[in-house]
Amino acid sequence: MSMPATRITRVTGPLPGPRSKALFERWEKVEAQCTGYQAAVAWDRASGCVITDVDGNVFLDWTSGVLVTNVGHCHPDLVKAIQDASARLLNNYECLNQPRVEAAEKLVSVMPKHLDKCFFLSTGSEVTEAAVRIMKRKSGKFEIVSFYGGFHGRTSAAASVGGLAGPKKGYGPSVPGAIRVPFPYCYRCPFQARRETCGMLCLDYLDDAVRANSTGSLAGVMVEAYLGAAGFIFAPQGWFPRLERWLRGRGLLFALDEVQSSFGRTGKFFAMEWEGLQPDLVCIGKGIGSGYPVSAIGARGDVIGALGKGEMSSTHGGNPVAGAAVCAVIDIMRREKLADNALHMGQIMKARLLEMQQKCRYIGDVRGQGLVLGVELVRDKETKEPAPDLTRKLIDTAAQNGLLIGSVGVFGNVIRVAPPLTITQAEAHESMDIFEKSLSEL
Ligand SMILES: Cc1ncc(COP(=O)(O)O)c(C=O)c1O
Repeated sequence: MSMPATRITRVTGPLPGPRSKALFERWEKVEAQCTGYQAAVAWDRASGCVITDVDGNVFLDWTSGVLVTNVGHCHPDLVKAIQDASARLLNNYECLNQPRVEAAEKLVSVMPKHLDKCFFLSTGSEVTEAAVRIMKRKSGKFEIVSFYGGFHGRTSAAASVGGLAGPKKGYGPSVPGAIRVPFPYCYRCPFQARRETCGMLCLDYLDDAVRANSTGSLAGVMVEAYLGAAGFIFAPQGWFPRLERWLRGRGLLFALDEVQSSFGRTGKFFAMEWEGLQPDLVCIGKGIGSGYPVSAIGARGDVIGALGKGEMSSTHGGNPVAGAAVCAVIDIMRREKLADNALHMGQIMKARLLEMQQKCRYIGDVRGQGLVLGVELVRDKETKEPAPDLTRKLIDTAAQNGLLIGSVGVFGNVIRVAPPLTITQAEAHESMDIFEKSLSEL
């Protein structure tokens, strides 16, 4: 392990520091405590990949918020674009503003050619919800095939097509029409098959699932480009093209949820580019605003054209500040070649994680590409028993050592390695050194 001569990170005392602690105490008194597990750090400011907390401790960041700040925290060009736009015009609802048009032109210019229209909303859940509505409206049918472990947000239709129990548990019946089938979580294959020899039998199972569950009203398929919340689970090469052929053979619509996989995260602008997928609808969020709350749906004109005048809008969707933010983010991404950096730095970081896997008895699986890497922690590599308790301990230990990480996973045992796409070699290595040290302290 090679600690660099000049370290970026600096944590001066036990976490939470006194100011963080005081802030947590005030917060607990007044806001509902229903968010997930995080290190006990109250963020104050951030730049690029570096976070400073209210006590002046300095951390490297593997969270990007939650895969949001792709162009780096508080990129000066993005901050300036937001400041300038907000000084001019904050909101005008559906009346037209110039930044909205410019953002739409730019977004269409970076999407694959067949997606010639877009529409702006504010959150990821809003766009996945909209995608379900559009599929129903276009087809006149209501059933959606979706996947175990899929996460599309916490609103009703989005949670219903999702394949994680968490967002649904305790809320009664979900929206009818979701037909959920297994995603290829090959490390824990539900069919106990081996990737090398399985022939992707989970796709053969689609026919059975539809035969058994469909009332004959299939509208389309909704799937993430990789499973995010379920643990950064990537399908084997060739799986998506086969899925696409299957759904086209049945005349179904194809909605790809790229809320977290787009804007360079996997090493291309959109994850769909890796295998030349041609979804009818693509859901975009998080990185598109890189910190400014904006989302968008990219679409084939004839598909989104099923919506008539007045059928979709949202109070903040397409506001001028969001438009300016989207333009700035796309310009930064192109100029700084951030997708390429994600690919390159992802290779370096994954290689280090694979080395650690050899030495550490708790690392069951290392997966992902670009700057979306998952480290699945287990109690025992043979039994693969998930280790969510160790995962939480690692989050705390890493923070104490100067690295902020978060977790995902069906079992809450997958470390998210998802820094801003601007990460440098020095930052990558220092963060990896901290991670390795923290693992050794478990
Ligand atoms: C793939 C995916 N879709 C949808 C969402 C929902 O986005 P939001 O939290 O902005 O509503 C998320 C959020 O994590 C996501 O990862």
